[in-house]
Amino acid sequence: VTEELNSASVGTAAPPSRVSAMIFTRDRTVEDVLRGCLENLVPTAEFIKGTVEMAVEQLAQRASPRLLFVDVSGSPEPVARINELAQVCEPGTGVIVLGDTNDIRLYRDLRNAGVVEYFFKPLVGSLITQAVNSALTGFVEQPSSRTSKFVFVIGVRGGVGATTLATSAAWHLAEELQRRVLLLDLDLYAGDAALQLDAVPTHALYEALERTERVDDLFLERALIPVSPRLSLLASLEPIDGSVIPSEASVLSLLEKLMSRYRYVFVDIPAGMVHSVPQMLQLPSICLLVSGATLVSARDVMRWRAILGPNTPERKTLHILNRTGSHGSLPDAEFLRVVGEPPDITIPYDRAIGIASKLGMKELEKCASLQRGLAPLYAMIAGEPARGQRSMIDRLLRRT
Ligand SMILES: Nc1ncnc2c1ncn2[C@@H]1O[C@H](COP(=O)(O)OP(=O)(O)OP(=O)(O)O)[C@@H](O)[C@H]1O
Ligand SMILES: [Mg+2]
Repeated sequence: VTEELNSASVGTAAPPSRVSAMIFTRDRTVEDVLRGCLENLVPTAEFIKGTVEMAVEQLAQRASPRLLFVDVSGSPEPVARINELAQVCEPGTGVIVLGDTNDIRLYRDLRNAGVVEYFFKPLVGSLITQAVNSALTGFVEQPSSRTSKFVFVIGVRGGVGATTLATSAAWHLAEELQRRVLLLDLDLYAGDAALQLDAVPTHALYEALERTERVDDLFLERALIPVSPRLSLLASLEPIDGSVIPSEASVLSLLEKLMSRYRYVFVDIPAGMVHSVPQMLQLPSICLLVSGATLVSARDVMRWRAILGPNTPERKTLHILNRTGSHGSLPDAEFLRVVGEPPDITIPYDRAIGIASKLGMKELEKCASLQRGLAPLYAMIAGEPARGQRSMIDRLLRRT
């Protein structure tokens, strides 16, 4: 049952395509209270008679509202459901949870999961109005668990398959796991990610990095290249004679603007740029270090591990050994002896991968050898909680 409230728009009107508020509840009284509260605060409100489970299901399929109310009354594991919800809806959505227990631990856990407020029944209209007001004016100040996860992808040297793996993982998370994903290709002169995703690179990324002060919501709306409903791309194809390496401050500033919009931000970092973004690499993140299986690659892995530093609770490097069995590969045992640690992920050399990557993502997604190899990676990326990126970016930007 869906109804819309026809009330006056307030100053914080959402774009027309986006419903301002969605309410999932089966409780008639709750519905009445919320109708009264929202009438003068949001232009559109959609009431759906359903549980938090239904909210998870629906938001995986459609655009998120600015404000989302979910009723967890009777749910045996409300915090787990809210965490699922956080995975499928845009980080910029303000979530208000309604329930039937007055439990301080539940309250704390829900706040830690990133919800704006938790209210138990009977609802007090004035408190809800207050929460809605502050949610509409202060969206970005959500706790860290509602920010993006960063996945940095670095090839130890050219041609080892970094872009192929970055686009495959970003695509899989968006299409199969229904996460909202952005892929940022920092190789401004190659446009490889766009080629693999069958998208047309634009000049906007270059502009965004050159003049960060221009980047606002409107700019991003135009610059983001929609690949699929859940996957967007930021990629340029600048003239080959250019040689601008974006400054770290501009990359951080761009990441900051992207992180309230996407659950996952993948960054394809050309090897030659790594030295100019040392602070970015220290952000809470997963760093995918992609190598080939040759002796040269094995040596490179050791050198890169030294540059990237040891894993911490917030930052983890995963070594993806790609193209095993190709001409010039070391036997597994020999590779392990040189590197000293087994790879986290192994993907065989398969001509079908090379062919599919030229035909686009739909073909790559069908490559069994690639998908089998990447399956544990998908689980690792999707399972890790996001932590602390926002506060760290704030700190770095203030300093730089
Ligand atoms: N496991 C694999 N088996 C066979 N071919 C592969 C495999 N992985 C990647 N390739 C192919 O290798 C080529 C280089 O891949 P890709 O462009 O992803 O590498 P890269 O590390 O991003 O290179 P660059 O340094 O140019 O950015 C592509 O044609 C790709 O299809
Ligand atoms: Mg590449």
